[in-house]
Amino acid sequence: MDLPRVNEPRRSRLRADGGDEGFDVAREIFEQEDTIFANESLLEIDHVPSADRIVGRDDEIRMLAEELRSAVNGHSPENVIIYGKTGTGKSLVSRHVTSRAKELAKDGVSIGTAYVDCSTHSTETQAVSTLARHYNEPNVTQLRVPETGLSTAAYYERLWTVLDLQYDVVIIILDEADLMTDDSILMKLSRAGESGSTSCRIGVIAISNKIEWADDLNERVKSSLQPKEMAFQPYDATQLERIMENRTDAFQSGVLTSDVIPLCAAFAAQDFGDARKAIDILRHSGNLAYKQDAEQVTETHVREARTEAEKDRFKELIEGVPQQAKAVLLALSILTNNSAQEEFATQLVYRQYSNICKTIELDTLSERRFRDILKEQAFLGLIDIQKENRGRSGGINLLNRLVEDSEIVYEILIDDNRFTELDDNLDQRRVQDW
Ligand SMILES: Nc1ncnc2c1ncn2[C@@H]1O[C@H](COP(=O)(O)OP(=O)(O)OP(=O)(O)O)[C@@H](O)[C@H]1O
Ligand SMILES: [Mg+2]
Repeated sequence: MDLPRVNEPRRSRLRADGGDEGFDVAREIFEQEDTIFANESLLEIDHVPSADRIVGRDDEIRMLAEELRSAVNGHSPENVIIYGKTGTGKSLVSRHVTSRAKELAKDGVSIGTAYVDCSTHSTETQAVSTLARHYNEPNVTQLRVPETGLSTAAYYERLWTVLDLQYDVVIIILDEADLMTDDSILMKLSRAGESGSTSCRIGVIAISNKIEWADDLNERVKSSLQPKEMAFQPYDATQLERIMENRTDAFQSGVLTSDVIPLCAAFAAQDFGDARKAIDILRHSGNLAYKQDAEQVTETHVREARTEAEKDRFKELIEGVPQQAKAVLLALSILTNNSAQEEFATQLVYRQYSNICKTIELDTLSERRFRDILKEQAFLGLIDIQKENRGRSGGINLLNRLVEDSEIVYEILIDDNRFTELDDNLDQRRVQDW
């Protein structure tokens, strides 16, 4: 089936006379009834699902709750480091468990929770100033915490005062903690009690994608933090399906065909069990169905949404890649598109590349320089290079394979002005035709 392109506008429903003059196009769009989504916000990136929508993480919730249990009674919680690949529920579970601890604190125990995104607050000063401002309630403390302008030490002073005046225990989530420029804040937070800075008990949950991060921490930080470590495993397709099933009320009833969620789950399971990706593909599929005026979201929309997502990702990856390297990638994509095999010997790729260069009058690099480019692209993760031992006949052959889908690579590269002229005659031709 031929589907319109994603950015093609939705067909007009209201305009019966076909006339354009004075027609309020914006109004038409804004007032249109949404036949696909009932509550799209359930699928938005920053949506935090309620407890009953969290699926397949009971063990992790239980383990984290165990580590934080003392907090509920007004004592020091354990410090925890959580690892796991992207989209495995680390942030979600941490936020959920800390907010439950706060809600379920025993009578007379006051718990304060905080969430710091270290990708945007990556210096010690930014993080401590964020914490001090977050916790400070000026009418209780009679203190003001300016956004900037104080020294790091002064922010700490305010933070300790604010905590002493307001809380028995605080639990601080440092998300993307590996992006902090150094580990000073971990050091100060973990030693605050011992050094007499504050009588408030402090627990830290540090989250990282990188498993080796904790090993790299300064020994002194490790010894005062004494963290408990937890690893979150990627979701499998069944868990991803259940996560999405729990949000189907984002759609109007009867709009999702039965194969949509399993297919989104299968794609996301292939992509490292990332729940964010699964939900993202589902939302994009719905948007495509809406734009195309379809009555239902179908498997075709899912496939198209996936392709669009891959294209966006690949576009980002090759932004800034020099023209010559693009020609190399293009050569490999053409070979792959026109053959049953996926791996190609360097010389064959070089021939294809040379032909491209001749056709568009781009300088043809020497084979040696060409090999360097292949290696660079392998380093960037765009190409995979394997050695093939040619046995007795001698020598080692290098086989090059595109990591990304070759059709997508081709489509993105051919959009580049320099290559567009190739499109008509190039993609139909096999390498031996050159
Ligand atoms: N078990 C789950 N149940 C329901 N939704 C989930 C679950 N796990 C993850 N999600 C959803 O998937 C998305 C990604 O989850 P989350 O942000 O917790 O991942 P993460 O492990 O912190 O990823 P990253 O390392 O990229 O920050 C969120 O929108 C979240 O709501
Ligand atoms: Mg996260």
